[in-house]
Amino acid sequence: MKFKKMLKIELKKNEDFPENLLDLLPRGYQELNHIAILNLKPEIRIYAQEIAESMHKILPALNAIWQRTGKIEGKYRQPQGLAHLWGDKKSEIIITENHVKYKFDFTKIMFAKGNVTERRILPTRIKEGEIIIDMFAGIGYFSLGMARTKKPKKIYSIEWNLVSFNYLCENIQLNHVDSIITPIFGDCKEILKDFVKENEIRADRIIMGLLPAPIDAIPSALSVITDGGVIVYEGIEGKESTELFEQFSKIANQEGFLTILIERRIVKIYKPHLYHVVIEILVKKN
Ligand SMILES: C[S@@+](CC[C@H](N)C(=O)[O-])C[C@H]1O[C@@H](n2cnc3c(N)ncnc32)[C@H](O)[C@@H]1O
Repeated sequence: MKFKKMLKIELKKNEDFPENLLDLLPRGYQELNHIAILNLKPEIRIYAQEIAESMHKILPALNAIWQRTGKIEGKYRQPQGLAHLWGDKKSEIIITENHVKYKFDFTKIMFAKGNVTERRILPTRIKEGEIIIDMFAGIGYFSLGMARTKKPKKIYSIEWNLVSFNYLCENIQLNHVDSIITPIFGDCKEILKDFVKENEIRADRIIMGLLPAPIDAIPSALSVITDGGVIVYEGIEGKESTELFEQFSKIANQEGFLTILIERRIVKIYKPHLYHVVIEILVKKN
């Protein structure tokens, strides 16, 4: 039986929950390690406690139930408005995915489960001995998987949110990849300026994993890419659109580079008719 139907049947037994609101119950929920996170419609939020009480009865494997009333927002891409409803109150968890361990506090840090395939595919594209820069590293979403392949010579993982950065450092230890990943705290655009000044660090591959597409950071990425290097760029566009590649290429051409599209992957649906897309671009000095 479907979740919503089961929840409706259980809640009907609760006289405090108005019957005319039963249709507004959610169809599903996000689950992280037996912790359910509910997005409730505003009309039924005052009954969140009653909903959680019924929900754990129909899903006994759950350890905790939380409610999310906000979005993932701000320059640090932090989840907003998470409130505990039932069960274990601990919000720091370790998720194991594709043999990589990610430790984080889900009330402070985003973890997009829908990006699981991308987290698996990206490391498979790495070539032996590459120097990689992960410009928007977060807790190590992409860096950890790439490092675990043991192929890169070095990954510089840059993050400017201190909470994420501290988890990135912990996750590097947890996954035993400290000989490959060097975590760097700060604004990637400033850090890359230092890379240029020192004239030492150049990357064969640069990961630009941020939504919406970090257009303003393209010149910084180009300033440290090797001739023939690959830049992995993310954004939101239509199913068959070439907008992201054109946007990137326009700036790259102005900066004196030629661009070749190697691959385009749809990560997930973002909203109707719009998709979270990843493109891999080979850049060559013109
Ligand atoms: C949340 S991750 C996105 C990871 C991945 N694309 C995903 O959805 O799973 C993006 C990270 O970039 C960081 N960030 C944003 N702008 C930055 C900047 N200018 N310099 C360094 N880090 C930045 C944010 O703090 C955030 O942790």
